Amino acid sequence: MKKLIELITRRGGETPLSESAAPQEMPEGGLPTEPASGAAKETAPKLPPEPPLFFMLSHLDDDGPVRLDGVKLGVCEVMGLEIDEPKLGAFAGALNALDFPAQLLIRQHPPRLERMREKLQEAQPGNLPPQTKAAAESLGRLLTDLETRDGILDRRFYAVCEFARIDDLRGLLSRAGLSVHALQGRQLRMFFVSAALGGSPAEFDEDAPVEVAIGRRDMRIGGTLVRSLHLGKWPRSLAPGFLQGLMAAGAPMDLSVHVGPIPAEQAARTLEWQKVRFESAQSLSLKRGRTMSPEAEIALEDITRLRDEVQRGRERLFHASLSVTLHAKDEASLKEMTQRAKAHFGATLGKLDNLAFRQREGLLSTLPLALNAVAEWRSLDTSSIARLFPFSPPDLDTRSGTLYGIDMRACSPVVYDPWDGTHLNANIAVLARSGSGKSFATKLGVLRGLTRGITAYVIDPEGEYADMARAAGGRVLSPGVPGEGMNPFVIERGDSEEMLQRIGSLRRLIEVMVGESLGAERRASLDHALAGYYARPRERTGFRDFYSYLQEDEAGDPGLARLLRPFATGSLRHLLSDEGDDLLGNEALVTVFDLRLLEPELRPAAAMVCTETVWAAAAQDPKPRLLVVDEVWSIMQHPEGAAFMVSMAKRARKHRLGLQFITQDVQDLLSEDSSRTITGHSGRALLQNAAFKLLLQQDAAAISTVGDAFDLPQDLQRWLLSCPRGDGLLLSKGNRFPVRIEATPEETAVIEWTPGRH
Ligand SMILES: Nc1ncnc2c1ncn2[C@@H]1O[C@H](COP(=O)(O)OP(=O)(O)OP(=O)(O)O)[C@@H](O)[C@H]1O
Ligand SMILES: [Mg+2]
Repeated sequence: MKKLIELITRRGGETPLSESAAPQEMPEGGLPTEPASGAAKETAPKLPPEPPLFFMLSHLDDDGPVRLDGVKLGVCEVMGLEIDEPKLGAFAGALNALDFPAQLLIRQHPPRLERMREKLQEAQPGNLPPQTKAAAESLGRLLTDLETRDGILDRRFYAVCEFARIDDLRGLLSRAGLSVHALQGRQLRMFFVSAALGGSPAEFDEDAPVEVAIGRRDMRIGGTLVRSLHLGKWPRSLAPGFLQGLMAAGAPMDLSVHVGPIPAEQAARTLEWQKVRFESAQSLSLKRGRTMSPEAEIALEDITRLRDEVQRGRERLFHASLSVTLHAKDEASLKEMTQRAKAHFGATLGKLDNLAFRQREGLLSTLPLALNAVAEWRSLDTSSIARLFPFSPPDLDTRSGTLYGIDMRACSPVVYDPWDGTHLNANIAVLARSGSGKSFATKLGVLRGLTRGITAYVIDPEGEYADMARAAGGRVLSPGVPGEGMNPFVIERGDSEEMLQRIGSLRRLIEVMVGESLGAERRASLDHALAGYYARPRERTGFRDFYSYLQEDEAGDPGLARLLRPFATGSLRHLLSDEGDDLLGNEALVTVFDLRLLEPELRPAAAMVCTETVWAAAAQDPKPRLLVVDEVWSIMQHPEGAAFMVSMAKRARKHRLGLQFITQDVQDLLSEDSSRTITGHSGRALLQNAAFKLLLQQDAAAISTVGDAFDLPQDLQRWLLSCPRGDGLLLSKGNRFPVRIEATPEETAVIEWTPGRH
């Protein structure tokens, strides 16, 4: 029993050595002090060598592992891509240019979410009300549950080769459109230890001893049972993404494909020789009056075609070898996984070998050592290897931020932080039919955000969010009620660019308020009046102040003041005020603008007033904030409102505001039918300015519009019609992630809190 980490870092690392771990004092094939139990029933466990020998690793340099034979390796992580024909072609192109041996390694293991749990814990504001705190803690438990939930796996792709060629390998893969980054230092160390011990890369307890025992057909490494298998008989043909079906079976595994290019001349010679062999067999059969078997004919055709392709340089031949190591908690699940893996290959006439008495060779082949210890090869052409590789499904697990859902295809948690600067913006559009869970998903996002300190504002035309905000200790404002008016007229005068933008926004806001199109001339004089107003060196800004400026402005258009009178002195005077509520002064974690009390035709203007006020607050004190605009369609139906929202979406990023637009009128938002309204165009512009789009269940009437707008294949369109509530597609960075939005009971209690019920 040895401390693995100490051993594998003994030369490169800083960890001091315990004496017994020193390599020179280690007896060859040294014995573990405690033989492991249960690993091998049929025969007595064969006692393995000490860990460094066992794992064939000399030590870890900062930039790569060094094998026991002294060969230094480079490792890079390759981001998975969705498989499609152009990408396959690009990947095949990269392989064609590969002129040194390389190992492609895919590792999928239960996710390690403890770092994220810790970060969420650290970010949690101290003053959460008990119910919200309980919800935050329940999220921690949900994450723990996901770590052990069947089928939830974190899948990572790596490429390994000799250190001297790692830059070439990176270059080839990045030219093929993959994103590649080299593993170094702590990352490399976590990666290697996790590869040796099983599990996703994470900090391991460096003092924990590791026990290794080898059986005939399995091994025990630490607490897990592992079994290595080797693809002895390859399927005759490989469909694109051939390995994907295996990976999707949901078993924790390390799968390794070793490839070594065969020089073109040698490849052509081999193929020519095989062709001649088949042809002579054919003529022999003919002489004897027999016809050739159909299989032999197909094989001859294949070889002839391949020889031509190789001679033209379009294909190359490789030595290839595939091994897989399965990890399980107990024998029953190991057996079940083995059967599933074998069945996957069996279905295409391939066969996985058990590697009896060669388990360690199998394991070594799936470690990032660029070493095919099984030493069995088969010749494959470029396109077969390209098709084999399961680039996909991509996942959206950036390991920072919070949980947004569960990716049902990649079987991984959907974890990201819209404000981490890696996204185009933090905007998200939610489009779905009524009752599909739009508000639920949004409230969950607000709740999970506020438990990590992200301030949220919600513009709520139907009064759906007020209860939740109260439960979470937030506040509810009702613009239009005396004393709760807003003051969007506050402008930071220093920044002239910002000032121009804001004047434009205010002008659009006023146009929607007065409810009629002003015409070019009046619009220009309103712009002029606003510019004149802000040009005056006065501290006080607010609607009523602006109104009196209009009244006093003799050179200006007297019609303007008349139009605005209802908002200054009439029935609508409580919507806008001069002081307004100082949003920043006592900024709550969540603020809901409840517009239910307003006349429906006033709500769009009120929503814009609130949006503009939040924008003003964000401009004064930029930090991650979420602004939810529910029923965005009501604003978009006014051309000026649409222009206002689109411009807001474009600028939001500047002050770290994430806009979340929600609508069920997908048809109207996206319609290109010019006879309807002009908003179809702005609707699309709005969507283009959202880095994330969430499509939940759709209406049959709208699905083809949605399918067109987001370029969704037929099967996904059908799925969106019938998926259960809370399921949907998240679109981001050119990928589509089928997500399930799952809340804990404690979170649901906050989301669905109603004063009467609790
Ligand atoms: N992910 C989910 N998990 C559990 N329950 C959900 C989920 N999504 C929605 N629900 C349930 O469905 C109900 C309706 O959802 P919600 O109010 O969010 O729909 P909506 O799309 O906002 O509808 P509308 O268009 O009418 O506003 C919720 O009250 C909630 O109980
Ligand atoms: Mg709703």
